[in-house]
Amino acid sequence: MQRLDMQHQLDEFDNRAAAMEAADDVGSNPSDTETIGDLVARRLGRRDILRGALVAGALAGAGGTAGLFGPPKAAAAAKGRYVFDEISHGVDETHHVATGYDADVLLRWGDPLFADAPAFDPAAQTEAAQLRQFGYNNDFVGFHRLSADRAVLCVNHEYTNEELMFPGLGRQDKKDFADMTPEFVAVEMAAHGGTIVEIARRDGKWAVDTGGKLNRRVTAKTPMTLTGPAAGDDRLKTSADATGTKVLGTLNNCAGGMTPWGTYLMAEENFNGYFWGGKEAAAAHPHAASLKRYGIPGGWYSWGRLDARFDIAKEPNEVFRHGWVVEVDIMDPASTPKKRTAMGRFKHEGSETIVNKDGRVVIYSGDDERFDYVYKFVTNGAYNPNDRAANMDLLDDGTLYVARFDADGGVEWMPLVHGQGPLTADNGFESQADVLIDTRLAADKLGATPMDRPEDVDPNPVTNKVYVMLTNNSKRKADAVDGPNPRAENLWGQVLEITPADGDHAATTGSWDLVVQAGNPADPEVKAMWNPATTDNGWFACPDNCTIDAEGRLWVTTDQGSGWKKASGTADGVWALETEGEGRGTGKMFFRVPVGAEMCGPCFTDDTETLFVAVQHVASDGTKDWAPFGRESTYDDPATRWPDFDPKLPPRPSVVMITRKGGGKIAV
Ligand code: FEO
Ligand code: CA
Ligand code: CA
Repeated sequence: MQRLDMQHQLDEFDNRAAAMEAADDVGSNPSDTETIGDLVARRLGRRDILRGALVAGALAGAGGTAGLFGPPKAAAAAKGRYVFDEISHGVDETHHVATGYDADVLLRWGDPLFADAPAFDPAAQTEAAQLRQFGYNNDFVGFHRLSADRAVLCVNHEYTNEELMFPGLGRQDKKDFADMTPEFVAVEMAAHGGTIVEIARRDGKWAVDTGGKLNRRVTAKTPMTLTGPAAGDDRLKTSADATGTKVLGTLNNCAGGMTPWGTYLMAEENFNGYFWGGKEAAAAHPHAASLKRYGIPGGWYSWGRLDARFDIAKEPNEVFRHGWVVEVDIMDPASTPKKRTAMGRFKHEGSETIVNKDGRVVIYSGDDERFDYVYKFVTNGAYNPNDRAANMDLLDDGTLYVARFDADGGVEWMPLVHGQGPLTADNGFESQADVLIDTRLAADKLGATPMDRPEDVDPNPVTNKVYVMLTNNSKRKADAVDGPNPRAENLWGQVLEITPADGDHAATTGSWDLVVQAGNPADPEVKAMWNPATTDNGWFACPDNCTIDAEGRLWVTTDQGSGWKKASGTADGVWALETEGEGRGTGKMFFRVPVGAEMCGPCFTDDTETLFVAVQHVASDGTKDWAPFGRESTYDDPATRWPDFDPKLPPRPSVVMITRKGGGKIAV
């Protein structure tokens, strides 16, 4: 029964990335929070100007301007803050960057991270080798400078695709993982987690230093501690850990963040997918309602068959030890990573930090699932730039808030504090630990606004505004649209801007506005909203990650998954997106990934001279819909061995380094 259910769920999708989206489709949020009625009223002001532009664009389209949105002269006349010649939408087997820039592969799956690391041999993979090599499916990238020409790069390894990693295996999730041996699973676990590696710059370009003293791999088995208010709670105790404070490994680290005190925040996203046990075990679980709200068990991997901690029937509490933000001290490779329970348990897409004007630290995070929420965590203590040790446990003590977006343009940040409002024993919350372990259930009670898949949430330290990437939501019905989520069956997503009251990130109020409604502005059915200066290459669909450069400019990356053809018809990439002045809402395409990949981890160096991007799951998503290939890809198909063009190698997720030819700042 369990097997059939799982099979059914996975068969519908091209690959595990699509199955992850399936978890979002389940719509595990049953909250009946008001999302309609008075919220439908649109706000006046800048957005109306954009909407006017939409009409103009539609008319221009009717006039046969080949999809251009707004007259081309307007684009030429607009003097944007991003100085580069944009590239074209398109789909092919390699990557593209704007003219005048180099895009060099810095790190690929299997590359050695230590002097003693074995050379990558995909036909003879072992756990021991993978532990000394760069992991799989790179997502978040963080940069921490050590000196003028030396830095630490931190990279998350979100998940694994066995059909692209191992010769001869194919899609195991479609056949009950019949061929998954303990050895393959051990490699998978070692390919998860993160990489911390020193890089050095010579002649303007960075290279990995396999001799770096700070180099480290974090994996799905690395010993960690649970800290903060929920640590030691009965629900965090297992047969292997009677203290409820010691846990092995981190799962599905998607986006993340860096702190100013030199730590790396690894956000645990779709942790539900690693648990195993079927619907009957879930229904019999002592916290069945919690499991349901989090989509547990997902059954996306066979780990539960080999390791009891991933089987909810055998080890019912292990699920509560994942879904947190993990803080790693990158300056000490022997340090024990800490899962910071004060920041809540949900599918953290990212974890982006800003030091507030009063010195407290504020960390923004999206819960990436359809109809889930936007959060922020505010520390009680202040950041001390002169005493690193004093900052090392700041994240254990503070208040987690969830956002409500009101029709009048207001934002209310509601505290998730036991005993306040409905978060009481009468409603099933016996303690702050309960509130944090079941963050989603607590946020439901508070009436948070269900969003169109909140992914990266990045504060802009120059303007103090905050940008929320809302990827898409095919399940939103016409009677459930609201201000920040204004479209039904939303395949394209939107970029939301939050302005904290008085520039105070700790404030419980603020205002919101939309920067763009993504998708093709030349198609009236899409109801996209862009600045008319946006060209037919400047618009995108499905914003996922983003970053702010040292100039205070927003850069957005996309993940359309297997729906790329319907969403935009172009491969994913990096777009500049203007947020200020007359150019607000203008997109401009800078980089494009090979077909099947997702664009993650945009990360600028602090001098804006290098942009690192993470090209994840190359040759995976939606290759069936690319006519020159027209089928799903596996390791064994030579035609999918992009972007290496080496017949001996499978497609390899990679971190790409973008620099200006001849040096200098990017797009300035
Ligand atoms: Fe791992 Fe929400 O992307
Ligand atoms: Ca993402
Ligand atoms: Ca980011």
